[in-house]
Amino acid sequence: MLNQFCTKLFTGFIYFFILNSAVCVAQQAGKTDAIYSGVPWYDQNGNVVSAHGANIIRDNGKYYLFGEAHSDTSNAFAGFNCYSSTDLYNWKFESIALPLQPAGKLGPNRVGERVKVMKNPTSGEYFMYMHADTLGYKDQFVGYAISKNITGPYQFKGPILFNGKPIKKWDMGTFQDQDGKGYILTHGGVIHQLADDYQSIVAETNKQLTSGFESPTLFRKGNIYYFIGSNLTSWEKNDNYYYTASSLSGPWTAQGLFAPKGSLTWNSQTTFVLPVEGTKDTTFIFMGDRWSYPRQLSAATYVWQPLNILGTAISIPEYMQAWQVNTSTGEKTQFKGNFKVIENSNKSIHYKGKWLHVSDTTSISRATDKNDSFSYTFRGKQIGLYTLALPDNGYAKIVLQNKKGKLINQNLVDLYSKTPKIGLVYLSPILPHNDYTLRVFVAGERPNWSDKRKSNYGSTANTITIDKLIVRK
Ligand code: DGJ
Repeated sequence: MLNQFCTKLFTGFIYFFILNSAVCVAQQAGKTDAIYSGVPWYDQNGNVVSAHGANIIRDNGKYYLFGEAHSDTSNAFAGFNCYSSTDLYNWKFESIALPLQPAGKLGPNRVGERVKVMKNPTSGEYFMYMHADTLGYKDQFVGYAISKNITGPYQFKGPILFNGKPIKKWDMGTFQDQDGKGYILTHGGVIHQLADDYQSIVAETNKQLTSGFESPTLFRKGNIYYFIGSNLTSWEKNDNYYYTASSLSGPWTAQGLFAPKGSLTWNSQTTFVLPVEGTKDTTFIFMGDRWSYPRQLSAATYVWQPLNILGTAISIPEYMQAWQVNTSTGEKTQFKGNFKVIENSNKSIHYKGKWLHVSDTTSISRATDKNDSFSYTFRGKQIGLYTLALPDNGYAKIVLQNKKGKLINQNLVDLYSKTPKIGLVYLSPILPHNDYTLRVFVAGERPNWSDKRKSNYGSTANTITIDKLIVRK
């Protein structure tokens, strides 16, 4: 009797836990075989890869990704993470390269963003640059930190100085030219040249180009420099644009958008462009952030797309949901995978609660009440969820269990988009071929926020939608 009671209590607890527990529990190790945009990525410990506002450098045959360590509850600086990879698909968590400082400008209740790392070609030391600020974005400057090892720990030095003064700008980036000279880029398009030791600024190479132009991102192909930036819309995505020049000091030519107008840069904001140079080709990877406020840890994802480059014209004409890049040859290919499609009307999908099955130009199922859910049991080694992201969509909670009920993977995914968009929002790691059940719940919350000017952004409801599922055999 007591046993039965305990079992019931335990089952009840597990159910309660699934519905209400914090997301992002450590789970099945991540394993994947392509670059998938817009879905959570998992590291070797099964934790979500948290590396936004990032850059990548190649060192001793490995790629190192540095980015903002986020939490789901606060925008306060939580450190800068470092991950490594050999294939650019699977990321190993290495360290919190620069942890939260006990006090000071990157101490508690401060902001730290847009971390970038470059190796000084003379000293061999690694230099990390970042935007440091107050939580209300009122005390911004470009700071720097140094380490002898790429993975850290980096020693925070405070603001980098130009003529003895800090650079009081918020969004920043870096660029290392072929001659090893380093540059700090700030919003508006200003380019500052670093001293040879990378520890101060010696010149303003380029003056402000325009207003806005946040998340400045610069890269070079041949003798052309490409300078990408975003409009100023807080965490909301917008149509990013670019300039080109044959010298860093300009003159810069405005070239307009590089992704289709209204696609909001395929729902992302630029942060870095990585050239993957191989024996046959060089693929330039556009790295963008798909922010998700306030669930920046669980639900913010990455949009990494190959850039087409023809002279001064760059473009991402289509959203490549999955693609591969060969890090030896530098070549890229679209990735199809052996996926079976399960439409939302499939009788094996069990809907619970108030679901509406809408068929307009696209057929979707949608629900809004907290904990309304659907489940799907399948045999295979990977499952993915496509949704129609909409302006009134919220977060969906995903729970994947094996046939014994063991939790395999759990996360919160963001189904909001300012403009309607069909896309993959969740993809499990590649698992042993077996029987699994996927459950998707209305989380009952949505991304929305206001910025320092008190403008409101984000979703208007908690709706979730399903377009289809995909299962890998
Ligand atoms: C846009 C910037 O690009 C981000 O880095 C961040 O600072 C947000 N604004 C904050 O609203």
